[in-house]
Amino acid sequence: MGAHQQPVHQHGQKRSSPGSTNLAYFRACSFLACAFLSLSLLNFLYCSPPGAQQTVIVPVLQFLNHTYSSISSGIGGVGQSGSCDYSVGRWVWAPGHARRYNGTECNVKESRDCIRNGRPDTGYLDWRWQPAGCLLPAFDASAFLSELRGKHLAFVGDSMAWNMAQSLLCLLGAASPYRLVAKDHKDRFRRLAFATHNVTLSLYWAPFLARATGRSENHTMPYDTVHLDALADRWSADADTMDVVVVNAGHWFWSKAVYRNGSDVIGAHASTGLNHTEIGIVRPFREAYRTALERLSSGRRPRTVVSTTFSPTHFEGKTYDDPTACTNKIPYREGEKEVGSVEEELRSVVHEETEAVAAASIGSGSDGARFEVLDVTKLSSLRPDGHPGAYMNRDPFAHGVPERMPTDCLHSCLPGPVDTFNDILLQILVAKRR
Ligand SMILES: *[C@@H]1O[C@H](CO)[C@@H](O)[C@H](O)[C@H]1NC(C)=O
Ligand SMILES: *[C@@H]1O[C@H](CO)[C@@H](O)[C@H](O)[C@H]1NC(C)=O
Ligand SMILES: *[C@@H]1O[C@H](CO)[C@@H](O)[C@H](O)[C@H]1NC(C)=O
Ligand SMILES: *[C@@H]1O[C@H](CO)[C@@H](O)[C@H](O)[C@H]1NC(C)=O
Ligand SMILES: *[C@@H]1O[C@H](CO)[C@@H](O)[C@H](O)[C@H]1NC(C)=O
Ligand SMILES: *[C@@H]1O[C@H](CO)[C@@H](O)[C@H](O)[C@H]1NC(C)=O
Repeated sequence: MGAHQQPVHQHGQKRSSPGSTNLAYFRACSFLACAFLSLSLLNFLYCSPPGAQQTVIVPVLQFLNHTYSSISSGIGGVGQSGSCDYSVGRWVWAPGHARRYNGTECNVKESRDCIRNGRPDTGYLDWRWQPAGCLLPAFDASAFLSELRGKHLAFVGDSMAWNMAQSLLCLLGAASPYRLVAKDHKDRFRRLAFATHNVTLSLYWAPFLARATGRSENHTMPYDTVHLDALADRWSADADTMDVVVVNAGHWFWSKAVYRNGSDVIGAHASTGLNHTEIGIVRPFREAYRTALERLSSGRRPRTVVSTTFSPTHFEGKTYDDPTACTNKIPYREGEKEVGSVEEELRSVVHEETEAVAAASIGSGSDGARFEVLDVTKLSSLRPDGHPGAYMNRDPFAHGVPERMPTDCLHSCLPGPVDTFNDILLQILVAKRR
Protein backbone atom coordinates (compact mmCIF):
# COMPACT_ATOMS: atom_id res chain seq x y z
CA MET A 1 0.00 0.00 0.00
CA GLY A 2 1.12 3.54 -0.64
CA ALA A 3 4.27 4.85 0.96
CA HIS A 4 2.42 7.90 2.20
CA GLN A 5 0.81 5.91 4.96
CA GLN A 6 3.75 6.22 7.27
CA PRO A 7 3.54 9.15 9.62
CA VAL A 8 7.11 10.33 9.93
CA HIS A 9 6.78 11.78 13.38
CA GLN A 10 7.83 9.89 16.42
CA HIS A 11 6.14 9.97 19.73
CA GLY A 12 7.55 7.13 21.74
CA GLN A 13 7.48 7.75 25.43
CA LYS A 14 10.67 8.03 27.36
CA ARG A 15 10.35 5.13 29.71
CA SER A 16 13.01 2.92 31.14
CA SER A 17 13.43 -0.16 29.03
CA PRO A 18 12.82 -3.50 30.72
CA GLY A 19 15.60 -5.47 32.27
CA SER A 20 17.88 -7.89 30.51
CA THR A 21 16.56 -10.85 28.58
CA ASN A 22 17.52 -12.97 31.56
CA LEU A 23 15.30 -10.99 33.83
CA ALA A 24 12.47 -10.86 31.33
CA TYR A 25 12.46 -14.61 30.89
CA PHE A 26 12.54 -15.06 34.59
CA ARG A 27 9.71 -12.62 35.14
CA ALA A 28 7.64 -14.35 32.48
CA CYS A 29 7.62 -17.36 34.76
CA SER A 30 6.38 -15.27 37.67
CA PHE A 31 5.55 -16.74 41.01
CA LEU A 32 4.29 -20.08 39.71
CA ALA A 33 7.67 -20.86 38.29
CA CYS A 34 9.26 -20.19 41.63
CA ALA A 35 7.00 -22.73 43.21
CA PHE A 36 8.54 -25.63 41.38
CA LEU A 37 11.88 -24.52 40.07
CA SER A 38 14.73 -25.74 42.17
CA LEU A 39 17.31 -23.30 43.41
CA SER A 40 19.87 -24.75 41.08
CA LEU A 41 17.61 -24.15 38.13
CA LEU A 42 17.14 -20.53 39.19
CA ASN A 43 20.87 -20.26 39.40
CA PHE A 44 21.12 -21.67 35.89
CA LEU A 45 18.59 -19.19 34.58
CA TYR A 46 20.59 -16.28 35.86
CA CYS A 47 24.04 -17.49 34.93
CA SER A 48 23.72 -19.42 31.68
CA PRO A 49 23.87 -18.17 28.11
CA PRO A 50 20.54 -17.27 26.46
CA GLY A 51 20.41 -20.37 24.22
CA ALA A 52 20.68 -22.69 27.17
CA GLN A 53 17.94 -20.83 29.01
CA GLN A 54 15.55 -21.35 26.18
CA THR A 55 15.86 -25.13 26.34
CA VAL A 56 15.12 -25.10 30.03
CA ILE A 57 12.45 -22.46 29.91
CA VAL A 58 10.35 -24.03 27.18
CA PRO A 59 8.88 -26.80 29.35
CA VAL A 60 8.39 -24.26 32.11
CA LEU A 61 6.38 -21.98 29.84
CA GLN A 62 4.42 -24.93 28.52
CA PHE A 63 3.48 -25.86 32.05
CA LEU A 64 2.40 -22.31 32.80
CA ASN A 65 0.50 -21.97 29.55
CA HIS A 66 -1.35 -25.16 30.35
CA THR A 67 -2.08 -24.10 33.89
CA TYR A 68 -3.31 -20.66 32.87
CA SER A 69 -5.38 -22.04 29.99
CA SER A 70 -7.18 -24.50 32.25
CA ILE A 71 -7.85 -21.81 34.79
CA SER A 72 -9.16 -19.41 32.18
CA SER A 73 -11.42 -21.87 30.42
CA GLY A 74 -12.85 -22.68 33.82
CA ILE A 75 -13.66 -19.04 34.46
CA GLY A 76 -14.80 -17.83 31.08
CA GLY A 77 -15.57 -20.38 28.45
CA VAL A 78 -14.99 -20.17 24.76
CA GLY A 79 -17.03 -17.81 22.65
CA GLN A 80 -18.85 -15.95 25.40
CA SER A 81 -17.90 -12.71 23.77
CA GLY A 82 -20.87 -10.76 25.05
CA SER A 83 -19.62 -11.11 28.58
CA CYS A 84 -15.91 -11.04 27.95
CA ASP A 85 -13.64 -8.03 28.26
CA TYR A 86 -10.93 -8.64 25.69
CA SER A 87 -9.14 -5.40 26.47
CA VAL A 88 -7.37 -6.63 29.59
CA GLY A 89 -5.19 -9.67 29.83
CA ARG A 90 -1.68 -10.82 29.00
CA TRP A 91 0.28 -12.48 26.25
CA VAL A 92 0.94 -16.17 26.90
CA TRP A 93 3.49 -18.29 25.12
CA ALA A 94 1.85 -20.50 22.50
CA PRO A 95 4.35 -21.77 19.94
CA GLY A 96 3.26 -21.16 16.37
CA HIS A 97 -0.03 -19.56 17.37
CA ALA A 98 0.56 -16.41 15.30
CA ARG A 99 2.02 -18.17 12.24
CA ARG A 100 -1.32 -18.11 10.52
CA TYR A 101 -0.43 -17.07 7.00
CA ASN A 102 2.47 -16.26 4.75
CA GLY A 103 2.58 -12.48 4.32
CA THR A 104 4.37 -12.74 0.99
CA GLU A 105 1.70 -15.03 -0.43
CA CYS A 106 -1.16 -12.77 0.63
CA ASN A 107 0.67 -9.71 -0.72
CA VAL A 108 1.04 -7.65 2.43
CA LYS A 109 2.76 -4.30 2.12
CA GLU A 110 6.45 -5.14 1.75
CA SER A 111 7.46 -2.96 4.67
CA ARG A 112 5.28 -5.11 6.98
CA ASP A 113 6.52 -8.45 5.61
CA CYS A 114 9.10 -8.95 8.34
CA ILE A 115 9.92 -12.55 7.44
CA ARG A 116 10.55 -11.71 3.79
CA ASN A 117 12.66 -8.77 4.90
CA GLY A 118 14.94 -11.13 6.76
CA ARG A 119 13.98 -10.64 10.38
CA PRO A 120 15.89 -13.54 11.91
CA ASP A 121 13.95 -14.04 15.16
CA THR A 122 10.43 -15.41 14.83
CA GLY A 123 9.57 -15.81 18.50
CA TYR A 124 7.20 -12.83 18.20
CA LEU A 125 4.86 -15.26 16.41
CA ASP A 126 4.68 -17.55 19.43
CA TRP A 127 2.30 -15.59 21.62
CA ARG A 128 -1.43 -15.66 22.16
CA TRP A 129 -3.54 -12.94 23.79
CA GLN A 130 -5.13 -14.29 26.94
CA PRO A 131 -7.96 -12.03 28.14
CA ALA A 132 -8.35 -11.91 31.89
CA GLY A 133 -11.62 -13.82 32.24
CA CYS A 134 -12.12 -15.95 29.14
CA LEU A 135 -10.48 -17.38 26.07
CA LEU A 136 -10.33 -15.46 22.81
CA PRO A 137 -11.48 -17.94 20.15
CA ALA A 138 -9.22 -18.40 17.15
CA PHE A 139 -10.16 -16.49 14.01
CA ASP A 140 -12.68 -18.35 11.86
CA ALA A 141 -12.72 -17.06 8.28
CA SER A 142 -15.94 -18.85 7.34
CA ALA A 143 -17.74 -17.48 10.37
CA PHE A 144 -16.49 -13.99 9.58
CA LEU A 145 -17.63 -14.13 5.96
CA SER A 146 -20.99 -15.68 6.86
CA GLU A 147 -21.59 -12.93 9.36
CA LEU A 148 -20.90 -10.35 6.66
CA ARG A 149 -22.79 -12.02 3.83
CA GLY A 150 -24.16 -9.41 1.43
CA LYS A 151 -22.55 -6.59 3.42
CA HIS A 152 -20.06 -3.80 2.97
CA LEU A 153 -17.23 -3.65 5.51
CA ALA A 154 -15.17 -0.47 5.55
CA PHE A 155 -11.90 0.40 7.26
CA VAL A 156 -11.51 4.13 7.76
CA GLY A 157 -8.44 5.84 9.15
CA ASP A 158 -4.67 5.85 9.03
CA SER A 159 -2.03 3.24 8.28
CA MET A 160 -3.05 1.28 11.39
CA ALA A 161 -6.49 0.83 9.82
CA TRP A 162 -4.77 -0.42 6.67
CA ASN A 163 -2.46 -2.65 8.69
CA MET A 164 -5.52 -4.25 10.30
CA ALA A 165 -7.38 -4.57 6.99
CA GLN A 166 -4.37 -6.22 5.39
CA SER A 167 -4.23 -8.71 8.25
CA LEU A 168 -7.93 -9.44 7.77
CA LEU A 169 -7.44 -10.03 4.04
CA CYS A 170 -4.70 -12.56 4.82
CA LEU A 171 -6.86 -14.28 7.44
CA LEU A 172 -9.89 -14.42 5.11
CA GLY A 173 -7.94 -15.17 1.94
CA ALA A 174 -7.15 -18.65 3.16
CA ALA A 175 -10.88 -19.50 3.17
CA SER A 176 -12.16 -17.58 0.20
CA PRO A 177 -10.71 -15.89 -2.88
CA TYR A 178 -11.21 -12.17 -3.36
CA ARG A 179 -10.39 -9.68 -6.05
CA LEU A 180 -9.57 -6.00 -6.25
CA VAL A 181 -12.51 -4.16 -7.80
CA ALA A 182 -11.41 -0.54 -7.41
CA LYS A 183 -8.40 1.50 -6.37
CA ASP A 184 -7.59 5.16 -6.78
CA HIS A 185 -4.41 6.25 -8.49
CA LYS A 186 -2.78 7.43 -5.28
CA ASP A 187 -3.80 4.26 -3.41
CA ARG A 188 -5.82 6.13 -0.83
CA PHE A 189 -8.81 3.94 -1.48
CA ARG A 190 -9.21 0.27 -2.29
CA ARG A 191 -12.21 -1.97 -2.69
CA LEU A 192 -12.15 -5.74 -2.73
CA ALA A 193 -14.91 -8.27 -3.26
CA PHE A 194 -15.45 -11.78 -1.92
CA ALA A 195 -17.76 -13.22 -4.57
CA THR A 196 -18.47 -16.40 -2.57
CA HIS A 197 -20.24 -14.40 0.15
CA ASN A 198 -21.10 -11.19 -1.72
CA VAL A 199 -18.93 -9.31 0.77
CA THR A 200 -17.34 -5.98 -0.12
CA LEU A 201 -14.35 -4.68 1.83
CA SER A 202 -13.20 -1.08 1.38
CA LEU A 203 -10.19 0.78 2.74
CA TYR A 204 -10.25 4.55 3.07
CA TRP A 205 -7.15 6.59 3.83
CA ALA A 206 -8.38 9.34 6.18
CA PRO A 207 -5.68 9.76 8.83
CA PHE A 208 -7.45 12.67 10.52
CA LEU A 209 -10.93 11.27 9.71
CA ALA A 210 -11.74 14.91 9.02
CA ARG A 211 -10.96 16.62 5.72
CA ALA A 212 -7.23 17.32 5.50
CA THR A 213 -4.99 18.75 2.85
CA GLY A 214 -1.22 18.89 2.91
CA ARG A 215 1.31 16.54 4.35
CA SER A 216 -1.03 13.55 4.70
CA GLU A 217 -1.53 13.72 0.94
CA ASN A 218 1.94 14.80 -0.11
CA HIS A 219 4.81 14.16 2.27
CA THR A 220 6.86 17.03 0.86
CA MET A 221 4.36 19.50 2.30
CA PRO A 222 5.30 20.97 5.70
CA TYR A 223 2.01 20.40 7.50
CA ASP A 224 -1.67 19.52 7.14
CA THR A 225 -4.64 21.85 7.22
CA VAL A 226 -7.43 19.94 8.92
CA HIS A 227 -11.08 21.04 8.72
CA LEU A 228 -12.62 19.73 11.93
CA ASP A 229 -16.12 20.65 10.79
CA ALA A 230 -15.93 18.46 7.67
CA LEU A 231 -15.06 14.82 7.06
CA ALA A 232 -12.62 13.43 4.52
CA ASP A 233 -14.64 13.37 1.33
CA ARG A 234 -14.44 9.87 -0.01
CA TRP A 235 -15.40 7.88 3.05
CA SER A 236 -18.07 10.31 4.17
CA ALA A 237 -19.63 10.23 0.69
CA ASP A 238 -19.77 6.41 0.87
CA ALA A 239 -20.85 6.22 4.51
CA ASP A 240 -24.47 5.40 3.69
CA THR A 241 -23.37 2.23 1.88
CA MET A 242 -21.41 0.84 4.84
CA ASP A 243 -22.78 -1.94 7.04
CA VAL A 244 -19.76 -2.43 9.26
CA VAL A 245 -17.26 0.37 9.78
CA VAL A 246 -13.95 -0.06 11.57
CA VAL A 247 -12.47 3.30 12.53
CA ASN A 248 -8.80 3.42 13.48
CA ALA A 249 -6.91 6.73 13.69
CA GLY A 250 -4.82 8.80 16.08
CA HIS A 251 -1.14 8.77 15.12
CA TRP A 252 -1.39 11.68 12.71
CA PHE A 253 -2.62 14.03 15.43
CA TRP A 254 1.01 14.16 16.57
CA SER A 255 2.18 15.64 13.30
CA LYS A 256 2.23 19.28 12.23
CA ALA A 257 -1.21 20.63 11.50
CA VAL A 258 -3.33 23.76 11.45
CA TYR A 259 -6.89 23.10 12.60
CA ARG A 260 -9.82 25.01 11.19
CA ASN A 261 -13.53 25.25 11.87
CA GLY A 262 -15.09 26.76 8.81
CA SER A 263 -13.04 29.84 8.01
CA ASP A 264 -11.67 30.16 11.57
CA VAL A 265 -8.27 28.84 12.58
CA ILE A 266 -8.84 27.30 16.00
CA GLY A 267 -5.22 26.34 16.65
CA ALA A 268 -2.23 24.41 15.45
CA HIS A 269 -0.04 21.57 16.64
CA ALA A 270 3.74 21.34 16.48
CA SER A 271 5.78 24.06 14.88
CA THR A 272 4.07 24.93 11.65
CA GLY A 273 6.02 28.17 11.44
CA LEU A 274 2.72 30.02 11.74
CA ASN A 275 1.67 32.07 14.72
CA HIS A 276 -1.27 30.01 15.97
CA THR A 277 -2.29 28.88 19.43
CA GLU A 278 -1.07 25.39 20.32
CA ILE A 279 -4.12 23.15 20.36
CA GLY A 280 -2.53 19.89 21.52
CA ILE A 281 -3.44 16.40 20.37
CA VAL A 282 -6.47 15.36 22.36
CA ARG A 283 -8.90 18.16 21.49
CA PRO A 284 -8.65 17.92 17.69
CA PHE A 285 -8.73 14.13 17.95
CA ARG A 286 -11.92 14.27 20.01
CA GLU A 287 -13.60 16.71 17.65
CA ALA A 288 -12.69 14.78 14.52
CA TYR A 289 -13.79 11.55 16.14
CA ARG A 290 -17.09 13.02 17.23
CA THR A 291 -17.83 14.39 13.77
CA ALA A 292 -17.03 10.98 12.26
CA LEU A 293 -19.23 9.02 14.68
CA GLU A 294 -22.10 11.47 14.29
CA ARG A 295 -21.94 10.96 10.55
CA LEU A 296 -22.09 7.18 11.07
CA SER A 297 -25.04 7.43 13.44
CA SER A 298 -27.13 8.98 10.69
CA GLY A 299 -28.72 7.10 7.83
CA ARG A 300 -31.16 4.26 7.69
CA ARG A 301 -28.79 1.30 7.73
CA PRO A 302 -28.67 -0.81 10.90
CA ARG A 303 -24.90 -0.70 10.80
CA THR A 304 -22.21 -1.68 13.29
CA VAL A 305 -19.53 0.90 14.00
CA VAL A 306 -16.36 -0.39 15.64
CA SER A 307 -14.12 2.28 17.18
CA THR A 308 -10.57 0.97 17.52
CA THR A 309 -8.53 2.51 20.33
CA PHE A 310 -5.00 3.82 19.98
CA SER A 311 -2.05 1.46 19.46
CA PRO A 312 1.02 2.92 21.17
CA THR A 313 4.39 2.99 19.42
CA HIS A 314 7.57 1.51 20.92
CA PHE A 315 10.35 3.88 19.95
CA GLU A 316 10.99 4.07 23.70
CA GLY A 317 12.66 7.46 23.58
CA LYS A 318 14.68 6.65 20.47
CA THR A 319 14.16 8.27 17.09
CA TYR A 320 12.48 6.72 14.08
CA ASP A 321 15.82 6.54 12.29
CA ASP A 322 17.59 4.63 15.06
CA PRO A 323 18.08 0.97 14.08
CA THR A 324 18.20 0.01 17.76
CA ALA A 325 14.65 1.23 18.45
CA CYS A 326 12.19 -1.62 19.18
CA THR A 327 14.61 -4.52 19.05
CA ASN A 328 12.76 -6.43 21.78
CA LYS A 329 12.19 -10.09 21.03
CA ILE A 330 9.49 -10.85 23.58
CA PRO A 331 6.37 -9.07 24.84
CA TYR A 332 6.25 -7.05 28.00
CA ARG A 333 4.82 -8.78 31.01
CA GLU A 334 1.62 -7.48 32.50
CA GLY A 335 2.51 -4.39 34.53
CA GLU A 336 5.98 -4.08 33.01
CA LYS A 337 4.86 -1.30 30.67
CA GLU A 338 2.42 1.48 31.44
CA VAL A 339 0.49 3.14 28.63
CA GLY A 340 1.64 6.77 28.21
CA SER A 341 -0.66 9.50 29.46
CA VAL A 342 -1.56 11.00 26.08
CA GLU A 343 -2.11 7.53 24.60
CA GLU A 344 -4.31 6.71 27.58
CA GLU A 345 -6.23 9.93 27.02
CA LEU A 346 -6.81 9.12 23.36
CA ARG A 347 -8.04 5.70 24.42
CA SER A 348 -10.52 7.35 26.80
CA VAL A 349 -11.67 9.76 24.10
CA VAL A 350 -12.61 6.81 21.88
CA HIS A 351 -14.60 5.22 24.71
CA GLU A 352 -16.29 8.48 25.70
CA GLU A 353 -17.24 9.59 22.21
CA THR A 354 -18.44 6.12 21.24
CA GLU A 355 -20.57 5.82 24.36
CA ALA A 356 -21.96 9.32 23.85
CA VAL A 357 -23.04 8.70 20.28
CA ALA A 358 -24.44 5.29 21.21
CA ALA A 359 -26.48 6.86 24.02
CA ALA A 360 -27.69 9.64 21.74
CA SER A 361 -28.78 7.20 19.04
CA ILE A 362 -30.77 5.18 21.59
CA GLY A 363 -32.26 8.41 22.93
CA SER A 364 -33.35 9.43 19.46
CA GLY A 365 -35.51 6.31 19.27
CA SER A 366 -33.60 5.09 16.22
CA ASP A 367 -32.14 1.62 16.42
CA GLY A 368 -30.06 2.28 13.33
CA ALA A 369 -26.49 1.84 14.41
CA ARG A 370 -24.74 -0.26 16.99
CA PHE A 371 -21.53 1.26 18.39
CA GLU A 372 -18.73 -0.87 19.85
CA VAL A 373 -15.21 -0.21 21.04
CA LEU A 374 -12.35 -2.48 19.97
CA ASP A 375 -9.94 -1.67 22.77
CA VAL A 376 -6.47 -2.77 21.69
CA THR A 377 -4.41 -0.18 23.58
CA LYS A 378 -3.26 -2.51 26.32
CA LEU A 379 -2.63 -5.55 24.18
CA SER A 380 -0.64 -3.61 21.64
CA SER A 381 1.29 -1.65 24.25
CA LEU A 382 2.60 -4.98 25.56
CA ARG A 383 4.06 -5.93 22.14
CA PRO A 384 7.30 -4.00 21.54
CA ASP A 385 8.49 -7.13 19.72
CA GLY A 386 5.80 -7.16 17.04
CA HIS A 387 6.92 -4.20 14.91
CA PRO A 388 9.00 -4.39 11.75
CA GLY A 389 11.68 -2.14 13.29
CA ALA A 390 14.59 -2.02 10.85
CA TYR A 391 13.01 -4.97 8.97
CA MET A 392 10.65 -2.57 7.27
CA ASN A 393 13.32 -2.80 4.58
CA ARG A 394 14.78 -5.92 3.08
CA ASP A 395 17.95 -7.29 4.69
CA PRO A 396 18.66 -4.02 6.50
CA PHE A 397 21.91 -5.20 8.06
CA ALA A 398 23.39 -6.82 4.96
CA HIS A 399 26.20 -4.26 5.04
CA GLY A 400 26.59 -3.87 8.79
CA VAL A 401 24.63 -1.81 11.28
CA PRO A 402 24.46 1.83 10.20
CA GLU A 403 24.01 4.60 12.73
CA ARG A 404 20.83 5.84 11.08
CA MET A 405 18.20 3.81 9.30
CA PRO A 406 14.40 4.07 8.99
CA THR A 407 12.74 2.06 11.72
CA ASP A 408 9.07 1.22 12.14
CA CYS A 409 8.04 0.79 15.77
CA LEU A 410 4.43 1.68 15.05
CA HIS A 411 2.87 -0.82 12.66
CA SER A 412 2.65 -4.56 13.16
CA CYS A 413 4.53 -7.21 11.24
CA LEU A 414 2.19 -9.34 9.14
CA PRO A 415 1.66 -11.92 10.46
CA GLY A 416 1.94 -10.30 13.87
CA PRO A 417 0.09 -8.85 16.86
CA VAL A 418 -2.42 -6.94 14.71
CA ASP A 419 -4.00 -10.27 13.73
CA THR A 420 -5.38 -10.35 17.28
CA PHE A 421 -7.38 -7.17 16.52
CA ASN A 422 -9.29 -9.20 13.94
CA ASP A 423 -9.81 -12.12 16.32
CA ILE A 424 -11.60 -9.65 18.60
CA LEU A 425 -13.40 -7.94 15.71
CA LEU A 426 -14.99 -11.28 14.79
CA GLN A 427 -16.18 -11.76 18.39
CA ILE A 428 -17.69 -8.25 18.35
CA LEU A 429 -19.51 -8.97 15.11
CA VAL A 430 -20.93 -12.33 16.19
CA ALA A 431 -21.94 -11.08 19.65
CA LYS A 432 -25.57 -10.22 20.11
CA ARG A 433 -26.59 -6.61 20.22
CA ARG A 434 -26.49 -5.32 23.74
C1 LIG B 1 -0.75 -23.09 24.99
O1 LIG B 1 -2.15 -23.14 24.92
C2 LIG B 1 -2.69 -23.02 23.62
C3 LIG B 1 -4.21 -23.04 23.70
O2 LIG B 1 -4.67 -23.25 24.98
C4 LIG B 1 -2.17 -24.15 22.73
O3 LIG B 1 -2.67 -23.98 21.42
C5 LIG B 1 -0.66 -24.11 22.73
O4 LIG B 1 -0.15 -25.18 21.96
C6 LIG B 1 -0.14 -24.19 24.14
N1 LIG B 1 1.31 -24.05 24.16
C7 LIG B 1 2.08 -24.90 24.79
C8 LIG B 1 3.52 -24.57 24.79
O5 LIG B 1 1.66 -25.88 25.36
C1 LIG C 1 6.21 -17.55 1.96
O1 LIG C 1 5.94 -17.70 0.60
C2 LIG C 1 7.03 -17.36 -0.24
C3 LIG C 1 6.53 -17.37 -1.66
O2 LIG C 1 5.79 -18.52 -1.91
C4 LIG C 1 8.17 -18.33 0.03
O3 LIG C 1 9.27 -18.01 -0.79
C5 LIG C 1 8.56 -18.22 1.49
O4 LIG C 1 9.55 -19.19 1.80
C6 LIG C 1 7.37 -18.45 2.39
N1 LIG C 1 7.75 -18.10 3.74
C7 LIG C 1 7.52 -18.88 4.79
C8 LIG C 1 7.97 -18.38 6.11
O5 LIG C 1 6.98 -19.97 4.68
C1 LIG D 1 -25.14 -8.61 -2.71
O1 LIG D 1 -25.39 -7.71 -1.62
C2 LIG D 1 -26.04 -6.52 -2.01
C3 LIG D 1 -26.16 -5.66 -0.77
O2 LIG D 1 -24.90 -5.30 -0.33
C4 LIG D 1 -27.40 -6.82 -2.61
O3 LIG D 1 -28.01 -5.63 -3.04
C5 LIG D 1 -27.24 -7.78 -3.78
O4 LIG D 1 -28.49 -8.16 -4.26
C6 LIG D 1 -26.44 -9.00 -3.35
N1 LIG D 1 -26.17 -9.83 -4.52
C7 LIG D 1 -26.37 -11.13 -4.52
C8 LIG D 1 -26.00 -11.82 -5.79
O5 LIG D 1 -26.79 -11.73 -3.56
C1 LIG E 1 3.86 17.61 -3.66
O1 LIG E 1 4.12 18.93 -3.28
C2 LIG E 1 5.21 19.52 -3.94
C3 LIG E 1 5.40 20.92 -3.37
O2 LIG E 1 5.60 20.86 -2.00
C4 LIG E 1 4.93 19.58 -5.43
O3 LIG E 1 6.03 20.11 -6.11
C5 LIG E 1 4.64 18.17 -5.94
O4 LIG E 1 4.24 18.22 -7.28
C6 LIG E 1 3.53 17.53 -5.13
N1 LIG E 1 3.37 16.16 -5.53
C7 LIG E 1 2.19 15.65 -5.84
C8 LIG E 1 2.18 14.22 -6.20
O5 LIG E 1 1.15 16.30 -5.82
C1 LIG F 1 -17.37 25.14 14.91
O1 LIG F 1 -18.11 26.30 15.10
C2 LIG F 1 -19.49 26.09 15.36
C3 LIG F 1 -20.20 27.42 15.36
O2 LIG F 1 -19.52 28.32 16.20
C4 LIG F 1 -19.63 25.32 16.66
O3 LIG F 1 -20.98 25.07 16.93
C5 LIG F 1 -18.87 24.01 16.55
O4 LIG F 1 -18.89 23.32 17.79
C6 LIG F 1 -17.42 24.26 16.14
N1 LIG F 1 -16.82 22.99 15.85
C7 LIG F 1 -15.57 22.68 16.18
C8 LIG F 1 -15.10 21.35 15.72
O5 LIG F 1 -14.85 23.43 16.81
C1 LIG G 1 1.65 36.08 17.43
O1 LIG G 1 0.32 36.26 17.93
C2 LIG G 1 0.28 36.96 19.16
C3 LIG G 1 -1.16 36.99 19.67
O2 LIG G 1 -2.09 36.94 18.62
C4 LIG G 1 0.83 38.40 18.95
O3 LIG G 1 0.82 39.12 20.16
C5 LIG G 1 2.25 38.28 18.42
O4 LIG G 1 2.74 39.58 18.11
C6 LIG G 1 2.30 37.42 17.17
N1 LIG G 1 3.69 37.19 16.78
C7 LIG G 1 4.11 37.32 15.55
C8 LIG G 1 5.56 37.06 15.30
O5 LIG G 1 3.37 37.64 14.62
